[in-house]
Amino acid sequence: MEINIGISEENRQKSAQGVRQLLANTYTLYLKTHGYHWNVEGPHFQQLHVQFMEQYTEMWTAVDELAERIRALGHFAPSSYAEMAELSDVAEESGKPDWKEMVQTLAKGHEQVAKTARDVLRIAEEVGDDATADIVAPRVTLHEKSAWMLRATAS
Ligand SMILES: [Fe+2]
Repeated sequence: MEINIGISEENRQKSAQGVRQLLANTYTLYLKTHGYHWNVEGPHFQQLHVQFMEQYTEMWTAVDELAERIRALGHFAPSSYAEMAELSDVAEESGKPDWKEMVQTLAKGHEQVAKTARDVLRIAEEVGDDATADIVAPRVTLHEKSAWMLRATAS
């Protein structure tokens, strides 16, 4: 069936492409955070193990909402590591960072995703896609908050 939700095909495409990018950013940061939850060591193990779990759980929930918004706009969500990596602004990790490097890397990751989310919010507003804007605006707040908490942890 044709989509008829009052947003042109061109504008749905713009909005969906932004959300695809935000989803890939969030997924890449989710995976990195979950990996750090497993691999963190040192004097702050318990606190960081739990803090990372809270953050990856939040992002895991968020990616589902982002993916389903892409589908509601008539587009397909990225669903492979290759697609996620290609769309993401958050770099993948290799090596064995210590606990402080993990916290700093995640802080930078949340700052990056906050910027991406803000850019997508602007696109959604420009094309009159209120529902996407409603989903994306809280992502800016959340990632800025997580970045603050991680910066505070590392200092
Ligand atoms: Fe666990």
